[in-house]
Amino acid sequence: MAGDYIITGGRPLNGTVRVPAAKNSVLPLLAASLLCSGPVRLCGVPELADVAESLALLRSAGCTAERQGADVRVDGVPGSGTLAAGPAGRMRASILFCAPLLARLGRAQTVLPGGCRIGARPIDLHLAGLVQMGACPQLEGERLLLTAPAGLHGADITLRFPSVGATETLLLAAALAQGETTLRGAAREPEIEDLAAFLNRCGGRVQGAGTGTVRVQGVRRLHGCSFVPLPDRITAATFACACAAAGGRVELAGCAPRLYAPVLEILEQMGCGVVRRSDAAVITRFGRLYGPGRVFTGAYPALATDAAPLLAAVLLCAEGPGSIEDVIFERRFGCAAGFAALGGRVRVEGRTLYAEPGGTLQGTVLEAPDLRGGAALVLAGLGVGDGSCVRVLDAGHIRRGYADLAGDLRRLGADCRAGRTGTEAGRQTKKL
Ligand code: EPZ
Repeated sequence: MAGDYIITGGRPLNGTVRVPAAKNSVLPLLAASLLCSGPVRLCGVPELADVAESLALLRSAGCTAERQGADVRVDGVPGSGTLAAGPAGRMRASILFCAPLLARLGRAQTVLPGGCRIGARPIDLHLAGLVQMGACPQLEGERLLLTAPAGLHGADITLRFPSVGATETLLLAAALAQGETTLRGAAREPEIEDLAAFLNRCGGRVQGAGTGTVRVQGVRRLHGCSFVPLPDRITAATFACACAAAGGRVELAGCAPRLYAPVLEILEQMGCGVVRRSDAAVITRFGRLYGPGRVFTGAYPALATDAAPLLAAVLLCAEGPGSIEDVIFERRFGCAAGFAALGGRVRVEGRTLYAEPGGTLQGTVLEAPDLRGGAALVLAGLGVGDGSCVRVLDAGHIRRGYADLAGDLRRLGADCRAGRTGTEAGRQTKKL
């Protein structure tokens, strides 16, 4: 859903954010529910655009998929192997719905997945692993057809890169496959562990999730279950960075600090106070911010690529230089043009964003380039201290990952409103 974010910065934040369930866990869990011969309930699922798209995908496969208050309930046997093209084409995670359909129906048809434009996002690792398990992919233009005429069987698969999505696809394929699958070079993100915990709760046999080698013994049937997905470490990182940019004190409740430890460490080095509890962290920033030097992202447990633009927004407020190199995606810093338009002294070379101190931030109209880049522009707006107004035009990216970013910031004391629908209103402002 399109909508603008209108921010007048310079107000310190104060309060508590309860961290919601992780988008990047909920989406694979919804895909996994296609494997289950019984109802699935995911508890406390945030109202994100990507969740709504996923429910539409499940319905297009013939399941019942609906919100029940804060929860989501999925039920029914998939009757169709064809995923609705609209939602599939708008979201990267749509590729995850193919393996379960393949496992249950021997056929899955979709269009190539969409999602944030942050560089090339091929699906070759997903497909190569599925081929090893007995699938035949056919790609015609944007249309992908996967068949498994003799069903899926276990395999010994090595990923050349620990892709989160490919690891999830292959876990989903292996859960009901005949025999054992060994996945080497697997992603170790907490969302992988969450997916494995869900599959095991449903009667699956997955071992080693969270390490580089995952073993799955295929079972004949998975039952449903009720499951609480893990908290969203990127949302937690977002509000930690918001506090660093705006100043003040924010408690992040319901999310273990170890899940986003690199972000907290970098903020601490920059001069923020960080108090870590078992499932909460308190961030404070009352003084100046120092430059962090050189920072790199990496596969978990290194600094998450999704947190890179959010930290970059904090760099704009620092009194020393800093750089962030994202080794995962080619174009992570689509927000840099917006930072520069605000007056930030930033440049991007290759995959690295460099920030120098001395810029004077001033309000202007910006366009959200992608989900995390859009959130980063909102955070940068919090750091504009001259009373001028920042308007971030958003064609719907931010709602994919944040249910109510403006409301959450407002509840912390920020002057941040969700404005009139998107680009039209924004263009008018731009002309003024
Ligand atoms: C997941 O994307 C997340 N999305 C992303 O979050 C996150 O940035 C990313 O993991 C890395 O942590 C979801 O979980 C829905 P990858 P995914 O496969 O699975 C290359 C957000 O803002 N690659 O680990 O697509 C790829 O090009 C989003 O919430 C291949 O070469 O990430 C990239 O360079 C954005 N071939 C790298 O691996 C493949 O077949 C990492 O991709 C697959 C990936």
